[in-house]
Amino acid sequence: MGKTADYRVILGDSRWMRELADESIHLVVTSPPYPMVALWDGFFAQESFHSYDSMHGYLDQVWREVSRVLVNGGLACVNIGDATRTVDGTFRLYPNHSRVIEAFERLGLATLPYILWKKPTTKPHYKGKGAFLGSGFLPPNAYVTLDMEYILIFRKGGLRSFVPKDPVRYRSVFTKSERDKWFSQVWTVTGARQNVDGVERRIAAFPEEIPRRLIRMFSVLDDMVLDPFLGSGTSLKVALDLQRRFVGYERMAEMETLIRKRLGGMSTNVLFEKQPPIDISTSQVEN
Ligand SMILES: C[S@@+](CC[C@H](N)C(=O)[O-])C[C@H]1O[C@@H](n2cnc3c(N)ncnc32)[C@H](O)[C@@H]1O
Repeated sequence: MGKTADYRVILGDSRWMRELADESIHLVVTSPPYPMVALWDGFFAQESFHSYDSMHGYLDQVWREVSRVLVNGGLACVNIGDATRTVDGTFRLYPNHSRVIEAFERLGLATLPYILWKKPTTKPHYKGKGAFLGSGFLPPNAYVTLDMEYILIFRKGGLRSFVPKDPVRYRSVFTKSERDKWFSQVWTVTGARQNVDGVERRIAAFPEEIPRRLIRMFSVLDDMVLDPFLGSGTSLKVALDLQRRFVGYERMAEMETLIRKRLGGMSTNVLFEKQPPIDISTSQVEN
């Protein structure tokens, strides 16, 4: 277990991660609010982002910060799903995953082969509705069901370098059966357990198994891991379990109680900080 400041939760806005130095993070594991998914409409509306483009403009500001803070050879893993919606009478796909790939490529990161996370529960759709209806056996107006989410993986710069036989790297080893399972493209992992008042469902928490695999696959012991959309603190809990250092950002200050509850006795190892107000008018970050 590391020192207190090795685990930080910053209750603030990850569009401006002023608390983090350039090139100070080895791995990012995160899941942002998903544009055009009903669960997040209220969130984006309160920020006055109503269009698909403007919602991605919001996320792009965080991706720019992610790119700044990653070390050379550092990786970013982004869990995001596509969405379907009828707008102005036309039903269509909103391919969030491709927009995020474009954003990272514009920042100069390399897209690596990604993971398709299959959630076992989703039902087929008919004309954009929740389930197949009566005429669902007649062509051609039914739609393919979105039952996968993406875990996109990006690298900044070249490969990370280690000294030959680096002992920390060797102590971070995974097994052959872990490797065979984790490095295959389709993951079947059931959704997060609902623990506290269903909040995990309201903020679409991912199950611990997702960050657990990603952190073991793409970081070594003592590495610094960042989650800029911390939510209920799933990735923090896993980082503590796996002896990686960690910093997370969460805008909803009320999540602190839930995060503490989730960590139990381990929360004494975590420093909770409130981000000082940001003067957007003098910020260097463009919209
Ligand atoms: C999909 S949830 C993350 C769920 C998380 N993976 C978990 O397991 O609980 C996205 C979270 O990002 C937070 N958020 C959105 N924009 C943010 C920003 N600019 N800075 C910090 N947190 C943000 C939301 O309040 C929400 O809790």
